[in-house]
Amino acid sequence: MRIVLGVGGGIAAYKAALLLRLFTEAGHDVTVVPTEASLRFVGVATWEALSGHPVTTTVFDAVETVNHVRLGHEADLVVVAPATADLLAKAATGQAPDLLTNTLLMARGPVVFAPAMHTEMWAHPATQANVALLRSRGAVVMEPGVGRLTGPDSGPGRLREPEEIFAAALAAARQEPAAASETGPAGPLAGRTVVISAGGTREPLDPVRFLGNRSSGKQGAALAETALAAGAQVRFVAAHMDVPPPPGAETTRVETALELRDAMLKAADGADVVIMSAAVADFRPAAASDTKIKKRDDGQDPVIELVRNPDILRELVVRRDEQRRADGALPDSGPLIVGFAAETGDAGSDVLAYGRHKLDRKGCDLLVLNRVGRNLVFGQDSTEVMFLTPGMDPAAPVPTLAGTKAEIAAGIIGRVAAALR
Ligand SMILES: Cc1cc2nc3c(=O)[nH]c(=O)nc-3n(C[C@H](O)[C@H](O)[C@H](O)COP(=O)(O)O)c2cc1C
Repeated sequence: MRIVLGVGGGIAAYKAALLLRLFTEAGHDVTVVPTEASLRFVGVATWEALSGHPVTTTVFDAVETVNHVRLGHEADLVVVAPATADLLAKAATGQAPDLLTNTLLMARGPVVFAPAMHTEMWAHPATQANVALLRSRGAVVMEPGVGRLTGPDSGPGRLREPEEIFAAALAAARQEPAAASETGPAGPLAGRTVVISAGGTREPLDPVRFLGNRSSGKQGAALAETALAAGAQVRFVAAHMDVPPPPGAETTRVETALELRDAMLKAADGADVVIMSAAVADFRPAAASDTKIKKRDDGQDPVIELVRNPDILRELVVRRDEQRRADGALPDSGPLIVGFAAETGDAGSDVLAYGRHKLDRKGCDLLVLNRVGRNLVFGQDSTEVMFLTPGMDPAAPVPTLAGTKAEIAAGIIGRVAAALR
């Protein structure tokens, strides 16, 4: 069989050499087409020596043979490993700046992409949309593996092992439907139900006034969009928001913390993931007046008595843990629960210490910790968060992610998808 092996500019490019070996030892004739960026990771000499064919990245070499037309027409199979986010985007949008992308446009046989990238890049709605588009056109886009990535981090995004890519490529060449475990039907959260609360609750004082907070709901909306793009069914519980709830989510509107609690307990039933990103008021007025509170003629100012609202995150965790005990269920049955903490720090303690304390009290599986202030986080388009998980080594550096709310959402959904596997 004539195979074109495209190599993208990722750290995993070296693994493509092992894949090339598997193909050649099985008797296939392989032409390697690296991208320019990939040559920073593995050089031309390796590909020419292992494949026995000259190697170039550009359409302007061997112009007399019109290389890309010949390669594309002659290939029985095109395999791209590692397929970077950039390459997937170019392939999905039909861009053709180099030999590999031109060959992909010319190819008439099966095409297999083996993606490799950081979890955030993989879970990003842009990448997920590109993957969905390529799959809808018949390309096989393998689900990446889960494990150690380029740096000290790990999660979904790892290049699948050369033997797995070899098997998927040969199956594609035989026109066999790829196993769902290899391609994933539609993203890392396909078949999962994710419940997300968003926005800020409002606690009425009287028919016209309320106690509220500065939450815009943007982070919750970004989480819902990312979860939808990753293939999940999303139940979205929206308190007051400055942005519309994402289309495609099943939305329940609420106003107060008590309404949010009821909606979340109902929505969490049978869910795989619960993300509490709403800013819930800790206190509410003990009694809301049925009529507008008036200025009094005797000059006395009103005193508002506050009472504590229920701790919804804690209640969700306790209910799940009770169900686990009652059913004798597996220790990781029931939803994975993600909490958010917005801390300012004060003279008594810093933001991280408050975050760790909150994780202990709540018992959730992941706590996303934000430093907040008047002009920090609320309503802003970008932010920085720390990820806290139970049992973390207190001496180890805390994983931190800075970026737009969509990027933070990708980081959270990526971690959730990795934990669910
Ligand atoms: C050390 C290093 C490792 C990288 N690894 C990846 C990767 O695994 N996946 C990815 O999508 N991009 C990765 N990148 C970024 C790509 O190299 C960059 O997006 C490039 O434009 C991709 O080019 P390509 O389209 O030729 O693959 C990495 C960059 C560096 C410097």
